[in-house]
Amino acid sequence: MSRDSIGKILAVAFLVCIFCSILVSATAVVLNERQERNKAEEKKKNILLAAGFYEPKKPIDEQFDKIEARIVDLETGLFRPEIDPAEFNSRAAARDQETRYQIPAEQDLAGIKARSRYKDVYLVVENDQMQQIILPVHGKGLWSTMYGFLALDKDLTTVNGFAFYEHGETPGLGGEIDNPAWKRQWPGKKIYDENGVLRIEVLKGQVNPRSPDAIYQADGLAGATLTARGVDNLLKYWLGENGYKPFLANLKTERLNP
Ligand SMILES: Cc1cc2nc3c(=O)[nH]c(=O)nc-3n(C[C@H](O)[C@H](O)[C@H](O)COP(=O)(O)O)c2cc1C
Repeated sequence: MSRDSIGKILAVAFLVCIFCSILVSATAVVLNERQERNKAEEKKKNILLAAGFYEPKKPIDEQFDKIEARIVDLETGLFRPEIDPAEFNSRAAARDQETRYQIPAEQDLAGIKARSRYKDVYLVVENDQMQQIILPVHGKGLWSTMYGFLALDKDLTTVNGFAFYEHGETPGLGGEIDNPAWKRQWPGKKIYDENGVLRIEVLKGQVNPRSPDAIYQADGLAGATLTARGVDNLLKYWLGENGYKPFLANLKTERLNP
């Protein structure tokens, strides 16, 4: 057979493909553990950022020492101490038939169709006292599902921090949810009023600081009203009756263990 025969070309191409696929698979397997470790570290970093005490120069695990992860059952509003938060994956649980909760369309403010019955929440504990709680939230923006953490003070209504760590909104438009100036407006805002009514809202436009409602309002995003509406919707979903509200009410009265 000549060196340039079709058979030989196909055989070489086939062997190169086999070699490359073995190389790619082996690299994926070898790097998998490191990727998982990096993912877990990135999540901890984002929780610390929302809590407002991330220090880039300090080891993350050391900073995470005062944070306790817990699993909440959104159906009962109680902790589920038998579920290990380190083993829990909220996105996988939202797909698993056992733990998936299909959200009725009329309740689906966040546009996510389904969520996990259980959620991982993070308590910042100092001197045996809970100082704040960090809640994972997510919902549809214009182009993507936006994932973030909302940190509430120990009064369970004042925002300490709010940041998204994953989304696919357009940089310069919806992507302005990552703008430090936009994020700075959140600490101090209140979610519920004194009667427990859910009041937080993202406006279309700017908050009037003289308005008595300003404490419950955040500025919208110029040219990105649809992303801003997505943020408003997801806050209303996750802090409402179908989200964390029953759990937060239990936490307030400390009726937490099943
Ligand atoms: C290429 C392109 C990307 C856009 N990306 C976003 C986006 O990420 N978020 C958003 O709300 N609007 C985005 N828009 C604009 C929306 O289509 C819509 O005009 C806007 O949300 C309306 O906001 P406004 O009332 O503040 O102008 C984009 C528009 C274009 C053409």
